Amino acid sequence: MKDSDFLIPWSKDSLVVNYTEVLVLGSGIAGLFAAIKLSRKFDVTVLTKKNIMEGNTEHAQGGIAVALNQDDSPEFHYGDTILAGAGLCNLEAVKILAEKGPECVRRLIELGTKFDRHDNELDFTKEGAHSKRRVLHARGDATGEEIERALVEVVRSRLITVKENHYVIDFIKNHHGEIAGVLVLNQISGKVEAWLAKAVVLATGGLGQLYKHTTNPELATGDGIAAAYRAGAELMDMEFIQFHPTALLLPGAPSFLISEAARGEGAKLLNVRGERFMEGIPGQELAPRDVVARAIWEQMKDSPVYLDFSCLEQPQDRFPTIYSTCLDYGIDISTTPVPIGPAAHYMMGGVKVNNMGETNLANLYACGECACNGVHGANRLASNSLLDGLVFASMITDSLSSKTFVLAKWENVRPFKGVWDINQKGSADVQFLRKQIKDIMWEKAGIIRTQQGLLEAYSQLIKFWEEFTPSLEVPHLELGNMISLGLIIAKTAMEREESRGGHYRSDFPFANKHWQKHSVLKRGDQHVGYVSI
Ligand code: SIN
Repeated sequence: MKDSDFLIPWSKDSLVVNYTEVLVLGSGIAGLFAAIKLSRKFDVTVLTKKNIMEGNTEHAQGGIAVALNQDDSPEFHYGDTILAGAGLCNLEAVKILAEKGPECVRRLIELGTKFDRHDNELDFTKEGAHSKRRVLHARGDATGEEIERALVEVVRSRLITVKENHYVIDFIKNHHGEIAGVLVLNQISGKVEAWLAKAVVLATGGLGQLYKHTTNPELATGDGIAAAYRAGAELMDMEFIQFHPTALLLPGAPSFLISEAARGEGAKLLNVRGERFMEGIPGQELAPRDVVARAIWEQMKDSPVYLDFSCLEQPQDRFPTIYSTCLDYGIDISTTPVPIGPAAHYMMGGVKVNNMGETNLANLYACGECACNGVHGANRLASNSLLDGLVFASMITDSLSSKTFVLAKWENVRPFKGVWDINQKGSADVQFLRKQIKDIMWEKAGIIRTQQGLLEAYSQLIKFWEEFTPSLEVPHLELGNMISLGLIIAKTAMEREESRGGHYRSDFPFANKHWQKHSVLKRGDQHVGYVSI
């Protein structure tokens, strides 16, 4: 079981089998935009882990970066993205992102997204490492929620089937080894089902929950990435995690995101003595995220760090979600600096795809945070993630629409070879282990890493993996995915003996030209491979 295509045993005899032409896994911006576009040609079904709105997109605050402002152009956006990516961006992908961004965002507006306007013109804000004001936002700091609202409305108005509370466990293949569909835990019936399709679009999002502090919601446990890995998909750049510099840091409060747009509008970082410790650093509060996150981490060794909104006029109007959430915890941002700290925010790596979203497995496509084509390099530029979801979902639909696929037949599905034990009970104390993993990842595979720490993380996670027996319950399945992804992050981070973007090694504190390449790993590989893109 430990090195299998499957996290749990299953039997072909006992499953309900469903068919659709294209399966979209995940209901964030990438999944829903793909589903809407694909529904013009295919019968599409969206499977989503919780309810359709829930996921990282809904929590996105700052906005969506796009070169639509008068003094801006895709060339400037391209340049800023590459600079932030610290030498590791796939240049062709960045070109596609910057050039196709405007038409995709216009489409989003046509589909009903209402971005904030000033005198009827789109209102752009600025975020870290952007040379222009190019970040669109909605209802102040509720950009992701507004985009989801609009996309969900469109999905509901079309003939797109949506199955909520359907947890994807694993991929199933036909006798040729091509992806034929997925095994799903229907959390309403409690039963495992098979969903067969001509093609599968993976858009299941990121894995912030591997870390003690994260801006990601509870469901972001990397399930889709882990399932693809078990099925033989190549993963790329898994050592590159982005830590957002400013999440609320209060005992008992979640690591609620305090948008970078706040610093874009002038909010300042202060230490306990009231000093602006970013003042001497190029870019100051708007330096690249990894730089700001590490500076805060250093300060936090001695003292708490705060984000001070006092020089903003009426911050409650511009940032209503941040204002009301902080107020719930007794902090009025218009008068009181907010205690903050860094938190795991975004996975630059993921399932390796080309610019059309194709993976190394036939019939499997991936887009959004779970995918990696190298567009973000070693460090994503602020507010490029929603745009990435849109643009590369759109690339997938172009690619899929031009192909002929054959719907998989159940009799051609490769069965699970092993013992079917329906009474299997998970051996793990799930809550305890989940906390342990998050602590280990935060301490040893987090913002500042060392060979020793990563080795310790790897050894501890290996022990968890050896002792782990999953059962058919979402927390158990999530735990299995978290352990295996933690191992992959620790392994790839251990091998990269340099510092670049989101990956910082205090024992190798500088970028090294020799490492200007992408890590690639698939199940069964003894060693991490490297490619240049
Ligand atoms: C933020 O609002 O700071 C998050 C935006 C992003 O992650 O790009």
